[in-house]
Amino acid sequence: MYRLLYWLVLRRLPAEGTHRVSFALLRALVALPGVARVMHRLFAPRAPELRVHAFGRELPGPLGLAAGFDKDAKGIRALFALGFGFVEIGTVTAEPQPGNPGPRLFRLPRDRALINRMGFNNEGATAAARRLAHRGRGTVGANIGKTKRVAEADAVADFTASAERLAPFADYLVVNVSSPNTPGLRDLQAVDKLGPLLTAVRAAAGLASPMRRVPLLVKIAPDLADADIDAVADLALELGLDGIVATNTTIARTGLVTPGATVAALGAGGLSGAPVKARALAVLRRLRARVGARVTLIAVGGIETADDAWERIRAGATLVQAYTGFIYGGPGWPSRVHRELAARVRAANLTSIEQAIGADG
Ligand SMILES: Cc1cc2nc3c(=O)[nH]c(=O)nc-3n(C[C@H](O)[C@H](O)[C@H](O)COP(=O)(O)O)c2cc1C
Repeated sequence: MYRLLYWLVLRRLPAEGTHRVSFALLRALVALPGVARVMHRLFAPRAPELRVHAFGRELPGPLGLAAGFDKDAKGIRALFALGFGFVEIGTVTAEPQPGNPGPRLFRLPRDRALINRMGFNNEGATAAARRLAHRGRGTVGANIGKTKRVAEADAVADFTASAERLAPFADYLVVNVSSPNTPGLRDLQAVDKLGPLLTAVRAAAGLASPMRRVPLLVKIAPDLADADIDAVADLALELGLDGIVATNTTIARTGLVTPGATVAALGAGGLSGAPVKARALAVLRRLRARVGARVTLIAVGGIETADDAWERIRAGATLVQAYTGFIYGGPGWPSRVHRELAARVRAANLTSIEQAIGADG
C-alpha cells in the first residue's frame, strides 16, 4: 500500500517537505493516548533470536535508524514505535544552524537513491540534549559534527562542546567526520587529525558523564582510499575506540540509471541508497579483516532488505542502520526487515543473530 501511495503521490512532492510532514504526522499519531503502546506491540522486534548486545546494552533487534532522519531528537518514541532496534539522532552541532539553502534533498527513484546537501541543519546541542534528557527507554546514540561557521582550527573545541552537552543523555556518541556537506569536515578523517579529535571528545564525554562511560564511535566515508580505511581501523584499535560506523553518503555518481545530465543538474551532495551498497559492504569487510571482534562495527549504506542486513552481519557488523531504505520502504519497513531477519536466523539453525556476526569472515 505504501509503495502505491509512494508511486502515485509522494514521489511527485518535494522530498524535504514530504519528509517533514510525514515525520510530524507520525509524531502526532504516536502522541495520541494508547497509540504508542499498540504500535510497539505490533511492530517492535520481539523474536528472542534478534536480541543483540552492544555498548553494554541489550537491543531488541539489530536494525537501527541512521543519523540524519531525526536530527533534533524530536521523534525518538515514534521511531521506536515503528520497530527500530535503536535510533541515532543528529548530526547535532554545538551551535544551532540552518543548513544549506533549499532545495537540498532529491530523490532518484530509478536508482532507489537520494542525494542530499542538507548541511547539518539542526537546533544545536543544547536543544537536542534537553530532548534526550526526557526520552523513554531504548538505545539512542548521538551523532555530532562541526558547526559550519567554526574555523577548522577550532573544530576540536566545537566537537567537545557538543560531546559535553550530549554525553550525559546518550547511550553512545558518534564523531561524524564524513558528511560531504560541511567544507573541510572530511579532512578530519586523516589519522593525524582524527586521533587528537577523538581523544579530546572522549575526555570531554568522560568529564560530563563521570559515573557512566559513554561508548565512542567514529563514522567514516565510503570514499576513503583503502589505505585510509586501514589507518582508521588501526587508530580505533590504538585508542580502544568502541566502534566504527561505515559508511556515510558518497560524493561519487557512478553506476546510476538516472541520466547523467539529470544527476548533474541536482548539484553537489551525498548520494545514498542502493548505489552505495557495494562500497559500504567492501569497507565493512576491510574493517572487519583488520579489527576482528575488537571494535563494534555498525554497517550502513544501501541496506534495503533483510538479505542486505543479513549479509552485513555475516560480514562482521554487530548492528546495521538505514535511512534511504526506510524512505523508499515506508513505515512498515523496519518491522518487516526484523521479521525477515529472524526467519534467516532460524533458517540458518542458529538460536541468536549474534552467532552470525562475522560468520563469513
Ligand atoms: C537526507 C539525509 C541526511 C543525512 N544526514 C546525516 C547526518 O546528519 N549525519 C550523518 O552522520 N549521516 C547523515 N546521513 C547519512 C546516513 O546516516 C547514512 O550514513 C547514508 O545515507 C547511507 O545509508 P543509506 O543508504 O541507508 O541511506 C544522511 C543521509 C540522508 C539521505
